Amino acid sequence: MNQLGAGIAITGVGSAKPETVLDNHHLSQMVETSDEWIQTRTGIRQRRLLDAQGSLSEMASAAAHKAMAMAGLSPVNLDLIILATSTADDLFGSACQIQASLGASNAVAFDLTAACSGFVFGMVTAAQFIRTGVYRNVLLIGADVLSRWVDWSDRCTCVLFGDGAGAVVMQANQQDRLLGFEIRSDGNQNGSLKLAYDARTQEIVKGVTVSRGCYQPITMNGKEVYRFAVQKVPEVIDKALFWANLTTDQVDWLVLHQANQRILDAVAQRLKIPSEKVLTNLSNYGNTSAASIPLVLDEGVQQGKIKPGDIIAASGFGAGLTWGSAIFQWGR
Ligand code: UT7
Repeated sequence: MNQLGAGIAITGVGSAKPETVLDNHHLSQMVETSDEWIQTRTGIRQRRLLDAQGSLSEMASAAAHKAMAMAGLSPVNLDLIILATSTADDLFGSACQIQASLGASNAVAFDLTAACSGFVFGMVTAAQFIRTGVYRNVLLIGADVLSRWVDWSDRCTCVLFGDGAGAVVMQANQQDRLLGFEIRSDGNQNGSLKLAYDARTQEIVKGVTVSRGCYQPITMNGKEVYRFAVQKVPEVIDKALFWANLTTDQVDWLVLHQANQRILDAVAQRLKIPSEKVLTNLSNYGNTSAASIPLVLDEGVQQGKIKPGDIIAASGFGAGLTWGSAIFQWGR
């Protein structure tokens, strides 16, 4: 127990990726780009794409099953499911569909939208319910299918994104393993990265107009988002480490939102964290938005790099603009 209430442990992780691979050579047949440009500027070689029949809920449920198996937790014992996503199958939310498909009959479920920061924001949200003693067993999923919203003729954005899902189980625990966090937003920079509502006027009766629902593809000012990330991410990690009463040299693994290898390198450099401690799988999956942190976390655990007790500094950043960091120890 910590002073605030129940301690928290992250006891399971799992991920799911679609089968279809789109590599940089495919993209160079679609837009004026090259494997060389994409790899040099982003570090991405290929990404996975969900096919037209696939659903976000199925992919998220597959990741959730693996995380729960690792935690040794049965779906009926879940109290809460949080789905961090910007690309729900249903604008009303997809968390309840996942609850039904898992058979998590005792869990309340809802979606949380904070773009590429969604997983970290979800972790902090889940923590509030556990700390206060309201819930003991929480499933947090980060999942996105940005391929549905990419403009495949825009070379500035279409080379960046991929689809995927990752999940963690967070449980009340005697030892508190969530050591510190900090989350931030700045709506003044909202225009830098958008998946905007496209209002098309429809007159439903004389004199009464409404807008007909539709969304535009993703638009981004890459340079601005890049600058923002490189400046704000080290700051927010430093702040979360301060709350955790830790210094950067005590961090075992830097687990950043996988947006661009150059951003990962620059953040690590600013924090003076050596590159061996930076987890990356960007070259295989691209930017999978809310899924990227649990995807790379799962890979780190599966590969035996991350061990129980290791200190992880995670940080997400993206549209909103939003950014945040959570510092936690892996395992019970
Ligand atoms: O999830 C969080 C959200 N996203 C991010 O974190 C993305 C942050 N931004 C970035 O990662 C980088 O800004 C990009 C990878 C998007 C772009 O890299 P850059 O080094 O900032 O390139 P740029 O936008 O300054 O573009 C340089 C040139 C331009 O040509 P001109 O104007 O110099 O002739 C672009 O038109 O590269 C051109 N360009 C491309 N060329 C070949 C842009 N995209 C491509 C492309 N292939 N795919």
